Amino acid sequence: MASKDEESKPSFFFFFPSSSFCSSLLFGFRCVVFVSLCYLLWLRFLFHTFPLLAPTRSGRSSQLGRSPPATCDPSIARFYIHRLHPRFNADIVQRCLSRYACCGVDCPDVGHSGLGRPLLRLTADADVDPDLTSWYATHPLSAEVIFHARVERHPCRTTDPAAAELFYVPFFAGLHATTSFRPKNRDALAVELAEHLNSLPAFRRRGGRDHFLVVGRTSWDFMRKPACPDFGANQGLLLLPEVANMTVLTVERHPWEGRNQFGIPYPSYFHPRTAEDVADWQAELRRFARTRSFLFAFVGGWQPGSEKAAVRTSLMAQCWKSNRCLPVHCEPILHKCDDPGRILDVMRRADFCLQPPGESFTRRSTFEAILAGCIPVFLSEHSAYSQYQWYLPARPEDWSVLLKPDQWDRVEEVLARIHRNVVAKMRDTVIELIPRISYAHPDSSVGFQDAVNIALIELTKRVRSNQDGL
Ligand SMILES: *[C@@H]1O[C@H](CO)[C@@H](O)[C@H](O)[C@H]1NC(C)=O
Repeated sequence: MASKDEESKPSFFFFFPSSSFCSSLLFGFRCVVFVSLCYLLWLRFLFHTFPLLAPTRSGRSSQLGRSPPATCDPSIARFYIHRLHPRFNADIVQRCLSRYACCGVDCPDVGHSGLGRPLLRLTADADVDPDLTSWYATHPLSAEVIFHARVERHPCRTTDPAAAELFYVPFFAGLHATTSFRPKNRDALAVELAEHLNSLPAFRRRGGRDHFLVVGRTSWDFMRKPACPDFGANQGLLLLPEVANMTVLTVERHPWEGRNQFGIPYPSYFHPRTAEDVADWQAELRRFARTRSFLFAFVGGWQPGSEKAAVRTSLMAQCWKSNRCLPVHCEPILHKCDDPGRILDVMRRADFCLQPPGESFTRRSTFEAILAGCIPVFLSEHSAYSQYQWYLPARPEDWSVLLKPDQWDRVEEVLARIHRNVVAKMRDTVIELIPRISYAHPDSSVGFQDAVNIALIELTKRVRSNQDGL
């Protein structure tokens, strides 16, 4: 209080000045005018002496690709980002960042707009400015944060709800669930969101059918069943009537009950800034194709308990036994699987990468494999085919292998029988998928269709083709 009083005194004197204060004020004023004139003359001198200064600067910044793209792709509808209270997004990120900074546990690193820590180069040329790298140690559950950063500066974004065909509700439900353990009032924030949406004319206009939500965790986490164990917050989010009318983008959709859910890729480590970044990486993988000396690779850990775990254990044992398989044993203490360079290096040295289900059907590892040009081998159609239809070729056999249960105990034999030419063709298809499954760097003026643009294109088709049934 005291300091506030002191601060207010000078302004009081300024408005009711004494005569001596006035004369010094006049002197000060003359001084300011004189100095300003000198400054202007000096600027004029500078401009005439170094006329190239300004053009050179702008030339360089456009070279770096910083100038925003001016036009909106006509296949993407104008969209509006709802302004929500920060407790639905920014506060959650902030809480997470401070917890990550403190202890590094319980919270993914969502710094750098969700991308995480920049990585030293994983590719051939090592001398890239770390501020301009396209590689980050991205956490698998940060899709919602990256998506938000990507669309904030998107050329199809409009700030006028009346001009929008599509509406994005930026609630970081996954991060909220990850960071809040709430046995009581678990759904409080989700219910509050639904009430808020219901109060908005833009939402009521079509009952929410032109609205979408992006969640970076599996949809199972938000469709609580009575028998489900408690793990976090807003477990009933996707069952709320308001959300049931919306389109939900999620890293894993519910294969049977996810009528309004669509799979988006787990984020991997590559966040290209330009189409050239993508082309360079693809070219490197094609060159590398000849040096793939292993038939298959398995990156994963033992999981105790269930029937699924028994299959994983069997695959792992087959990999360790075979001299044609390259294993990486993930154990939390060893941190081997926290090292993106190591994972990509292993996957780049094998033709096939085994993708058995983990705790749920899908794994981030599928997208790491694609990024490394390694052909994914699935045990379930729900690990990818029924999930990411927007992103993957229509024919699964063009880019992947699905092992039938009677093949699970002879993986090497099955994979070795696939003809070399077929393998090469599948790998080409996998490498072609890389831009689509990558989240472009949010700072980039994206010159290719990345995971976010593909989602926006498909959302647009949905909202335009099905005016009432969305
Ligand atoms: C969801 O859509 C139905 C019509 O399909 C509508 O009757 C209902 O009011 C909508 N729900 C909400 C919460 O707006």
